[in-house]
Amino acid sequence: MSAHAPSSSPVFFDAVVIGAGAAGLFCAAQAGQRGLKVLLIDHAEKVAEKIRISGGGRCNFTNRDLDVRAPHKHFVGQNPQFCRSALSRFTPADFIALMDKHGIAHHEKHKGQLFADRSAEDIIAMLLAECAAGQVQRWQPCRVKKIEILASSPNEESAASYQIDTDRGPVNATSLVIATGGLSIPKIGASDFGYRLAQQFNLPLVERTPGLVPMTFDGDAWQPYAQLAGLALPVEISTGSKKERMAFNEDLLFTHRGLSGPAVLQISSYWKPGTPLFINLAPEVDFEAELLAAKQRSRKLIANELTQWLPARLADAWVQQDAAWQRPIAEASDKALIALAQKFSRWEITPTGTEGYKKAEVTLGGVDTKVLSQQTMECKNQSGLYFIGEVVDITGWLGGYNFQWAWASAAACAQAL
Ligand code: FDA
Repeated sequence: MSAHAPSSSPVFFDAVVIGAGAAGLFCAAQAGQRGLKVLLIDHAEKVAEKIRISGGGRCNFTNRDLDVRAPHKHFVGQNPQFCRSALSRFTPADFIALMDKHGIAHHEKHKGQLFADRSAEDIIAMLLAECAAGQVQRWQPCRVKKIEILASSPNEESAASYQIDTDRGPVNATSLVIATGGLSIPKIGASDFGYRLAQQFNLPLVERTPGLVPMTFDGDAWQPYAQLAGLALPVEISTGSKKERMAFNEDLLFTHRGLSGPAVLQISSYWKPGTPLFINLAPEVDFEAELLAAKQRSRKLIANELTQWLPARLADAWVQQDAAWQRPIAEASDKALIALAQKFSRWEITPTGTEGYKKAEVTLGGVDTKVLSQQTMECKNQSGLYFIGEVVDITGWLGGYNFQWAWASAAACAQAL
Protein backbone atom coordinates (compact mmCIF):
# COMPACT_ATOMS: atom_id res chain seq x y z
CA MET A 1 0.00 0.00 0.00
CA SER A 2 1.36 3.44 -0.87
CA ALA A 3 2.41 5.90 1.83
CA HIS A 4 -0.15 8.49 2.87
CA ALA A 5 0.56 12.07 3.88
CA PRO A 6 -0.24 12.24 7.60
CA SER A 7 -3.45 14.15 8.34
CA SER A 8 -3.80 16.14 11.55
CA SER A 9 -7.50 15.65 12.37
CA PRO A 10 -8.41 12.14 13.51
CA VAL A 11 -10.22 9.76 11.16
CA PHE A 12 -12.94 7.71 12.87
CA PHE A 13 -13.27 3.92 12.74
CA ASP A 14 -15.56 1.58 14.67
CA ALA A 15 -12.60 -0.70 15.24
CA VAL A 16 -8.85 -0.46 14.77
CA VAL A 17 -7.01 -3.76 14.62
CA ILE A 18 -3.24 -3.62 15.18
CA GLY A 19 -1.32 -6.52 13.60
CA ALA A 20 -2.15 -7.88 10.13
CA GLY A 21 -1.18 -11.47 10.87
CA ALA A 22 -3.44 -14.49 11.11
CA ALA A 23 -5.66 -13.23 13.93
CA GLY A 24 -5.73 -9.57 12.87
CA LEU A 25 -6.64 -10.24 9.23
CA PHE A 26 -9.38 -12.65 10.16
CA CYS A 27 -10.85 -10.42 12.86
CA ALA A 28 -10.80 -7.32 10.62
CA ALA A 29 -12.49 -9.26 7.78
CA GLN A 30 -15.25 -10.64 10.00
CA ALA A 31 -15.90 -7.29 11.69
CA GLY A 32 -15.93 -5.47 8.33
CA GLN A 33 -18.41 -7.98 6.93
CA ARG A 34 -20.68 -7.25 9.90
CA GLY A 35 -20.86 -3.68 8.61
CA LEU A 36 -18.29 -2.06 10.91
CA LYS A 37 -15.82 0.51 9.62
CA VAL A 38 -12.48 -1.20 10.28
CA LEU A 39 -8.86 -0.12 9.99
CA LEU A 40 -6.09 -2.73 10.05
CA ILE A 41 -2.58 -1.44 10.85
CA ASP A 42 0.75 -3.30 10.59
CA HIS A 43 4.30 -1.98 10.83
CA ALA A 44 5.81 -4.66 8.58
CA GLU A 45 6.37 -4.21 4.83
CA LYS A 46 4.68 -7.50 3.95
CA VAL A 47 1.36 -8.82 5.17
CA ALA A 48 1.10 -12.06 7.20
CA GLU A 49 4.73 -13.13 7.00
CA LYS A 50 4.22 -15.94 9.52
CA ILE A 51 1.45 -17.51 7.46
CA ARG A 52 3.77 -17.27 4.43
CA ILE A 53 6.63 -19.20 6.08
CA SER A 54 4.46 -21.61 8.06
CA GLY A 55 4.19 -25.31 7.45
CA GLY A 56 7.18 -25.29 5.09
CA GLY A 57 5.38 -22.73 2.86
CA ARG A 58 2.09 -24.67 2.80
CA CYS A 59 0.63 -23.45 6.14
CA ASN A 60 -0.64 -26.09 8.53
CA PHE A 61 -3.79 -24.03 8.98
CA THR A 62 -5.75 -26.20 11.44
CA ASN A 63 -6.00 -29.65 12.98
CA ARG A 64 -8.90 -32.07 12.67
CA ASP A 65 -8.00 -33.78 15.99
CA LEU A 66 -8.69 -30.68 18.06
CA ASP A 67 -10.98 -31.66 20.94
CA VAL A 68 -12.87 -28.50 21.86
CA ARG A 69 -14.20 -30.10 25.05
CA ALA A 70 -10.66 -30.69 26.34
CA PRO A 71 -8.47 -27.78 25.22
CA HIS A 72 -5.78 -28.64 27.80
CA LYS A 73 -4.92 -31.61 25.55
CA HIS A 74 -3.53 -29.37 22.83
CA PHE A 75 -3.00 -25.95 24.43
CA VAL A 76 -0.58 -24.64 27.03
CA GLY A 77 -1.04 -21.63 29.32
CA GLN A 78 -1.94 -20.85 32.91
CA ASN A 79 -5.58 -21.62 32.08
CA PRO A 80 -5.97 -23.60 28.84
CA GLN A 81 -9.73 -23.89 29.53
CA PHE A 82 -9.91 -20.19 28.62
CA CYS A 83 -9.83 -21.03 24.90
CA ARG A 84 -12.73 -23.48 25.05
CA SER A 85 -15.52 -20.99 24.34
CA ALA A 86 -13.88 -19.44 21.26
CA LEU A 87 -12.67 -22.79 19.91
CA SER A 88 -16.10 -24.36 20.22
CA ARG A 89 -17.78 -21.45 18.40
CA PHE A 90 -15.29 -21.33 15.50
CA THR A 91 -14.09 -24.86 14.82
CA PRO A 92 -11.61 -26.43 12.37
CA ALA A 93 -14.66 -27.37 10.23
CA ASP A 94 -15.58 -23.67 9.98
CA PHE A 95 -12.14 -22.73 8.67
CA ILE A 96 -12.16 -25.71 6.28
CA ALA A 97 -15.55 -24.49 4.97
CA LEU A 98 -13.99 -21.06 4.30
CA MET A 99 -11.10 -22.68 2.42
CA ASP A 100 -13.59 -24.70 0.38
CA LYS A 101 -15.65 -21.57 -0.38
CA HIS A 102 -12.48 -19.99 -1.84
CA GLY A 103 -11.63 -23.18 -3.76
CA ILE A 104 -8.33 -23.70 -1.91
CA ALA A 105 -7.39 -27.37 -2.09
CA HIS A 106 -5.92 -28.88 1.05
CA HIS A 107 -4.81 -32.22 2.42
CA GLU A 108 -4.26 -33.99 5.71
CA LYS A 109 -0.74 -35.09 6.60
CA HIS A 110 0.06 -36.48 10.01
CA LYS A 111 -2.14 -36.60 13.13
CA GLY A 112 -4.98 -34.47 11.76
CA GLN A 113 -2.72 -31.68 10.41
CA LEU A 114 -4.22 -29.85 7.41
CA PHE A 115 -2.07 -28.06 4.81
CA ALA A 116 -2.80 -26.05 1.66
CA ASP A 117 -2.01 -28.18 -1.42
CA ARG A 118 -0.35 -25.36 -3.34
CA SER A 119 0.94 -22.59 -1.11
CA ALA A 120 0.39 -20.58 2.07
CA GLU A 121 0.04 -17.60 -0.30
CA ASP A 122 -3.43 -18.91 -1.21
CA ILE A 123 -4.52 -18.56 2.42
CA ILE A 124 -3.11 -15.02 2.62
CA ALA A 125 -4.94 -14.13 -0.61
CA MET A 126 -8.13 -15.61 0.86
CA LEU A 127 -7.82 -13.52 4.04
CA LEU A 128 -7.15 -10.37 1.99
CA ALA A 129 -10.21 -11.12 -0.17
CA GLU A 130 -12.28 -11.55 3.00
CA CYS A 131 -10.97 -8.17 4.22
CA ALA A 132 -11.86 -6.57 0.88
CA ALA A 133 -15.38 -8.04 1.17
CA GLY A 134 -15.65 -6.26 4.52
CA GLN A 135 -14.21 -3.00 3.06
CA VAL A 136 -11.42 -3.10 5.60
CA GLN A 137 -8.85 -0.33 5.17
CA ARG A 138 -5.27 -1.47 5.65
CA TRP A 139 -2.39 0.84 6.51
CA GLN A 140 0.85 -1.03 6.03
CA PRO A 141 3.64 -0.32 6.72
CA CYS A 142 2.42 2.05 9.39
CA ARG A 143 3.87 2.66 12.83
CA VAL A 144 1.70 3.17 15.89
CA LYS A 145 3.35 5.87 18.01
CA LYS A 146 0.96 6.25 20.92
CA ILE A 147 -2.41 5.06 22.18
CA GLU A 148 -4.55 7.10 24.52
CA ILE A 149 -7.99 6.74 26.07
CA LEU A 150 -10.27 9.58 25.00
CA ALA A 151 -12.22 11.37 27.65
CA SER A 152 -15.89 10.73 26.84
CA SER A 153 -17.66 13.76 25.42
CA PRO A 154 -21.45 13.79 25.07
CA ASN A 155 -21.21 16.19 22.10
CA GLU A 156 -19.04 13.97 19.96
CA GLU A 157 -20.75 12.50 16.88
CA SER A 158 -18.85 9.24 17.34
CA ALA A 159 -18.47 6.94 20.28
CA ALA A 160 -14.69 6.94 20.06
CA SER A 161 -12.88 5.65 23.11
CA TYR A 162 -9.31 5.42 21.84
CA GLN A 163 -6.98 7.73 19.96
CA ILE A 164 -4.28 5.93 18.02
CA ASP A 165 -1.42 8.14 16.93
CA THR A 166 0.23 6.70 13.81
CA ASP A 167 2.83 7.90 11.34
CA ARG A 168 -0.08 8.39 8.91
CA GLY A 169 -1.90 10.64 11.35
CA PRO A 170 -4.28 10.19 14.29
CA VAL A 171 -7.21 7.77 14.30
CA ASN A 172 -10.12 7.56 16.72
CA ALA A 173 -11.89 4.27 17.38
CA THR A 174 -14.59 2.80 19.56
CA SER A 175 -12.76 -0.52 19.84
CA LEU A 176 -9.11 -1.38 19.75
CA VAL A 177 -8.00 -4.94 18.94
CA ILE A 178 -4.42 -5.98 19.66
CA ALA A 179 -3.28 -8.81 17.36
CA THR A 180 0.46 -8.19 17.34
CA GLY A 181 1.43 -11.83 18.04
CA GLY A 182 4.46 -13.09 19.93
CA LEU A 183 8.21 -12.52 19.90
CA SER A 184 9.43 -15.30 17.62
CA ILE A 185 11.32 -14.46 14.41
CA PRO A 186 11.92 -10.74 15.08
CA LYS A 187 13.38 -10.21 11.59
CA ILE A 188 9.92 -10.58 10.00
CA GLY A 189 8.10 -8.11 12.23
CA ALA A 190 7.59 -9.69 15.65
CA SER A 191 7.59 -7.13 18.45
CA ASP A 192 6.67 -6.73 22.10
CA PHE A 193 4.06 -4.10 21.22
CA GLY A 194 1.12 -6.07 22.64
CA TYR A 195 2.87 -6.73 25.92
CA ARG A 196 3.92 -3.08 26.29
CA LEU A 197 0.37 -1.97 25.61
CA ALA A 198 -0.92 -4.42 28.22
CA GLN A 199 1.50 -2.85 30.70
CA GLN A 200 0.31 0.63 29.74
CA PHE A 201 -3.19 -0.48 30.82
CA ASN A 202 -1.86 -2.24 33.96
CA LEU A 203 -2.85 -5.67 32.68
CA PRO A 204 -0.87 -8.61 34.10
CA LEU A 205 1.44 -10.62 31.85
CA VAL A 206 2.51 -14.24 32.17
CA GLU A 207 6.27 -14.59 31.70
CA ARG A 208 7.23 -15.02 28.02
CA THR A 209 9.60 -17.77 26.85
CA PRO A 210 10.25 -19.36 23.44
CA GLY A 211 8.03 -22.36 22.65
CA LEU A 212 8.09 -25.01 19.91
CA VAL A 213 11.84 -24.45 19.77
CA PRO A 214 14.98 -26.59 19.19
CA MET A 215 17.02 -27.34 22.32
CA THR A 216 20.74 -26.85 22.88
CA PHE A 217 23.31 -28.68 25.02
CA ASP A 218 26.66 -27.98 26.59
CA GLY A 219 29.47 -28.24 24.00
CA ASP A 220 31.47 -31.02 25.75
CA ALA A 221 28.46 -33.07 26.82
CA TRP A 222 27.13 -32.85 23.27
CA GLN A 223 30.40 -33.95 21.66
CA PRO A 224 29.51 -37.68 21.35
CA TYR A 225 26.27 -36.81 19.54
CA ALA A 226 27.42 -33.94 17.30
CA GLN A 227 28.47 -36.47 14.62
CA LEU A 228 24.79 -37.50 14.34
CA ALA A 229 23.66 -34.13 12.91
CA GLY A 230 21.00 -34.67 10.26
CA LEU A 231 19.83 -38.02 11.62
CA ALA A 232 16.07 -38.35 12.26
CA LEU A 233 14.15 -41.18 13.90
CA PRO A 234 10.79 -41.75 15.65
CA VAL A 235 11.10 -41.63 19.46
CA GLU A 236 9.11 -41.20 22.62
CA ILE A 237 10.20 -38.07 24.48
CA SER A 238 9.07 -36.99 27.94
CA THR A 239 9.74 -34.44 30.65
CA GLY A 240 8.43 -33.46 34.08
CA SER A 241 7.92 -35.27 37.35
CA LYS A 242 5.73 -38.39 37.50
CA LYS A 243 2.69 -36.31 38.45
CA GLU A 244 2.94 -33.84 35.59
CA ARG A 245 4.81 -35.92 33.05
CA MET A 246 4.27 -34.94 29.39
CA ALA A 247 5.23 -37.33 26.60
CA PHE A 248 5.13 -37.22 22.80
CA ASN A 249 5.67 -39.89 20.16
CA GLU A 250 7.18 -37.97 17.26
CA ASP A 251 10.32 -37.70 15.12
CA LEU A 252 13.58 -36.55 16.72
CA LEU A 253 16.25 -34.72 14.70
CA PHE A 254 19.90 -34.44 15.75
CA THR A 255 21.46 -31.05 14.91
CA HIS A 256 25.01 -29.71 15.28
CA ARG A 257 24.08 -27.86 18.48
CA GLY A 258 21.45 -30.15 19.93
CA LEU A 259 18.06 -31.68 19.25
CA SER A 260 15.14 -30.62 17.11
CA GLY A 261 12.33 -32.19 15.09
CA PRO A 262 8.65 -32.38 16.09
CA ALA A 263 9.39 -34.44 19.24
CA VAL A 264 11.66 -31.76 20.68
CA LEU A 265 9.58 -28.79 19.50
CA GLN A 266 6.53 -30.27 21.25
CA ILE A 267 8.31 -31.10 24.51
CA SER A 268 10.04 -27.69 24.59
CA SER A 269 6.71 -26.05 25.46
CA TYR A 270 6.61 -28.12 28.68
CA TRP A 271 10.32 -28.24 29.59
CA LYS A 272 11.52 -26.39 32.70
CA PRO A 273 15.15 -25.12 32.67
CA GLY A 274 17.54 -27.34 34.61
CA THR A 275 15.37 -30.45 34.27
CA PRO A 276 16.15 -33.46 32.05
CA LEU A 277 14.47 -34.88 28.97
CA PHE A 278 13.96 -38.66 28.75
CA ILE A 279 14.12 -40.19 25.30
CA ASN A 280 13.22 -43.72 24.26
CA LEU A 281 15.09 -44.12 20.97
CA ALA A 282 13.08 -47.14 19.85
CA PRO A 283 9.79 -47.17 21.74
CA GLU A 284 8.55 -50.28 19.94
CA VAL A 285 11.54 -52.40 20.99
CA ASP A 286 12.14 -54.21 24.31
CA PHE A 287 15.91 -53.73 24.13
CA GLU A 288 16.81 -55.65 27.26
CA ALA A 289 14.97 -58.78 26.12
CA GLU A 290 16.20 -58.44 22.51
CA LEU A 291 19.87 -57.93 23.41
CA LEU A 292 19.96 -60.77 25.93
CA ALA A 293 18.29 -63.09 23.39
CA ALA A 294 20.70 -61.98 20.63
CA LYS A 295 23.65 -62.79 22.90
CA GLN A 296 22.59 -66.46 22.81
CA ARG A 297 22.42 -66.76 19.03
CA SER A 298 24.62 -64.11 17.35
CA ARG A 299 28.33 -63.67 16.68
CA LYS A 300 27.97 -60.13 15.40
CA LEU A 301 29.42 -57.01 16.99
CA ILE A 302 26.89 -55.25 19.24
CA ALA A 303 26.81 -52.24 16.88
CA ASN A 304 25.91 -54.50 13.93
CA GLU A 305 23.25 -56.31 15.92
CA LEU A 306 21.65 -52.97 16.82
CA THR A 307 21.12 -52.01 13.19
CA GLN A 308 18.01 -54.22 13.00
CA TRP A 309 16.25 -51.62 15.18
CA LEU A 310 18.26 -48.42 14.81
CA PRO A 311 20.07 -46.41 12.12
CA ALA A 312 23.70 -47.62 11.81
CA ARG A 313 25.11 -44.13 12.57
CA LEU A 314 23.23 -44.03 15.85
CA ALA A 315 24.26 -47.57 16.80
CA ASP A 316 27.94 -46.76 16.08
CA ALA A 317 27.85 -43.51 18.08
CA TRP A 318 26.19 -45.22 21.03
CA VAL A 319 28.62 -48.12 21.40
CA GLN A 320 31.56 -45.69 21.26
CA GLN A 321 30.44 -44.41 24.66
CA ASP A 322 31.58 -47.55 26.55
CA ALA A 323 34.36 -50.08 25.80
CA ALA A 324 32.09 -52.85 27.16
CA TRP A 325 29.78 -52.27 24.15
CA GLN A 326 32.51 -52.44 21.48
CA ARG A 327 32.70 -56.21 21.14
CA PRO A 328 30.79 -59.20 19.75
CA ILE A 329 27.46 -59.48 21.53
CA ALA A 330 28.21 -63.08 22.53
CA GLU A 331 31.17 -61.80 24.60
CA ALA A 332 29.34 -58.96 26.34
CA SER A 333 28.29 -59.26 29.97
CA ASP A 334 24.56 -59.24 30.78
CA LYS A 335 25.21 -56.17 32.93
CA ALA A 336 26.74 -54.27 29.98
CA LEU A 337 23.83 -55.22 27.71
CA ILE A 338 21.25 -54.18 30.30
CA ALA A 339 23.05 -50.82 30.75
CA LEU A 340 23.06 -50.35 26.96
CA ALA A 341 19.36 -51.21 26.74
CA GLN A 342 18.58 -48.65 29.41
CA LYS A 343 20.58 -45.98 27.63
CA PHE A 344 18.41 -46.55 24.53
CA SER A 345 15.07 -46.77 26.25
CA ARG A 346 15.64 -44.01 28.80
CA TRP A 347 18.34 -41.70 27.48
CA GLU A 348 18.45 -38.89 30.04
CA ILE A 349 19.84 -35.60 28.86
CA THR A 350 19.54 -32.08 30.29
CA PRO A 351 19.41 -29.20 27.79
CA THR A 352 21.35 -26.06 28.63
CA GLY A 353 18.76 -23.95 26.85
CA THR A 354 16.89 -23.39 23.62
CA GLU A 355 17.67 -21.75 20.29
CA GLY A 356 15.53 -18.79 21.46
CA TYR A 357 13.14 -16.52 19.58
CA LYS A 358 15.26 -16.64 16.41
CA LYS A 359 14.15 -20.24 15.88
CA ALA A 360 11.04 -20.60 18.07
CA GLU A 361 7.68 -21.03 16.32
CA VAL A 362 5.75 -19.41 19.17
CA THR A 363 5.94 -17.45 22.42
CA LEU A 364 4.69 -19.10 25.59
CA GLY A 365 3.01 -16.74 28.07
CA GLY A 366 1.57 -13.33 27.24
CA VAL A 367 -1.47 -11.36 28.33
CA ASP A 368 -2.92 -13.13 31.37
CA THR A 369 -6.28 -14.69 30.47
CA LYS A 370 -7.58 -13.79 33.96
CA VAL A 371 -8.24 -10.24 32.79
CA LEU A 372 -9.94 -11.18 29.49
CA SER A 373 -13.46 -12.37 28.73
CA GLN A 374 -13.31 -15.84 27.23
CA GLN A 375 -16.44 -15.11 25.19
CA THR A 376 -15.21 -11.91 23.55
CA MET A 377 -11.46 -11.45 24.32
CA GLU A 378 -12.29 -7.99 25.74
CA CYS A 379 -10.44 -6.78 28.83
CA LYS A 380 -12.73 -7.08 31.82
CA ASN A 381 -11.58 -3.74 33.26
CA GLN A 382 -10.96 -1.81 30.06
CA SER A 383 -14.01 -1.55 27.87
CA GLY A 384 -13.34 -1.65 24.12
CA LEU A 385 -9.82 -3.12 24.39
CA TYR A 386 -9.37 -6.66 23.01
CA PHE A 387 -6.40 -9.06 22.74
CA ILE A 388 -6.49 -11.96 20.25
CA GLY A 389 -4.13 -14.63 18.89
CA GLU A 390 -0.66 -15.39 20.14
CA VAL A 391 -0.26 -12.25 22.26
CA VAL A 392 -2.60 -13.96 24.77
CA ASP A 393 -1.26 -16.58 27.20
CA ILE A 394 -2.56 -19.47 25.07
CA THR A 395 -0.11 -21.57 23.05
CA GLY A 396 -1.03 -24.51 20.88
CA TRP A 397 0.84 -27.69 20.12
CA LEU A 398 2.68 -28.07 16.86
CA GLY A 399 0.25 -29.16 14.14
CA GLY A 400 -2.09 -26.30 13.22
CA TYR A 401 -3.37 -25.57 16.73
CA ASN A 402 -1.84 -22.08 16.89
CA PHE A 403 -3.54 -20.94 13.72
CA GLN A 404 -6.83 -22.43 14.90
CA TRP A 405 -6.50 -20.35 18.08
CA ALA A 406 -5.77 -17.26 15.96
CA TRP A 407 -8.91 -17.83 13.79
CA ALA A 408 -11.16 -18.73 16.74
CA SER A 409 -10.11 -15.88 19.05
CA ALA A 410 -10.43 -13.46 16.11
CA ALA A 411 -13.95 -14.69 15.32
CA ALA A 412 -15.03 -14.45 18.98
CA CYS A 413 -13.75 -10.87 19.13
CA ALA A 414 -15.24 -9.82 15.79
CA GLN A 415 -18.70 -10.97 16.89
CA ALA A 416 -18.46 -8.78 19.97
CA LEU A 417 -17.19 -5.54 18.39
P1 FDA B 1 1.18 -13.08 13.84
O1 FDA B 1 2.59 -13.19 14.28
O2 FDA B 1 0.68 -13.94 12.76
O3 FDA B 1 0.86 -11.57 13.42
C1 FDA B 1 1.26 -10.48 14.20
C2 FDA B 1 1.31 -9.27 13.29
O4 FDA B 1 1.51 -8.12 14.10
C3 FDA B 1 2.48 -9.32 12.30
O5 FDA B 1 2.00 -9.06 11.01
C4 FDA B 1 3.41 -8.22 12.79
O6 FDA B 1 4.08 -7.56 11.73
C5 FDA B 1 2.43 -7.28 13.47
N1 FDA B 1 3.05 -6.42 14.48
C6 FDA B 1 3.91 -6.78 15.45
N2 FDA B 1 4.30 -5.72 16.15
C7 FDA B 1 3.66 -4.65 15.62
C8 FDA B 1 3.65 -3.26 15.91
N3 FDA B 1 4.43 -2.75 16.86
N4 FDA B 1 2.89 -2.45 15.15
C9 FDA B 1 2.12 -2.94 14.15
N5 FDA B 1 2.09 -4.24 13.82
C10 FDA B 1 2.85 -5.09 14.55
N6 FDA B 1 1.18 -22.32 13.54
C11 FDA B 1 0.33 -23.25 13.05
O7 FDA B 1 -0.78 -23.40 13.57
N7 FDA B 1 0.70 -24.00 11.96
C12 FDA B 1 1.91 -23.86 11.34
O8 FDA B 1 2.18 -24.49 10.31
C13 FDA B 1 2.83 -22.93 11.91
N8 FDA B 1 4.08 -22.81 11.39
C14 FDA B 1 4.93 -21.85 11.89
C15 FDA B 1 6.21 -21.73 11.34
C16 FDA B 1 7.09 -20.75 11.81
C17 FDA B 1 8.49 -20.66 11.26
C18 FDA B 1 6.64 -19.86 12.84
C19 FDA B 1 7.55 -18.76 13.35
C20 FDA B 1 5.38 -20.00 13.39
C21 FDA B 1 4.51 -21.00 12.93
N9 FDA B 1 3.24 -21.18 13.49
C22 FDA B 1 2.40 -22.13 12.99
C23 FDA B 1 2.75 -20.28 14.57
C24 FDA B 1 1.82 -19.21 13.96
O9 FDA B 1 2.48 -18.60 12.86
C25 FDA B 1 1.43 -18.16 14.98
O10 FDA B 1 0.98 -18.75 16.18
C26 FDA B 1 0.35 -17.25 14.40
O11 FDA B 1 0.84 -16.58 13.25
C27 FDA B 1 -0.11 -16.24 15.44
O12 FDA B 1 -1.02 -15.38 14.83
P2 FDA B 1 -1.15 -13.88 15.33
O13 FDA B 1 -2.05 -13.20 14.35
O14 FDA B 1 -1.47 -13.84 16.75
O15 FDA B 1 0.33 -13.28 15.18
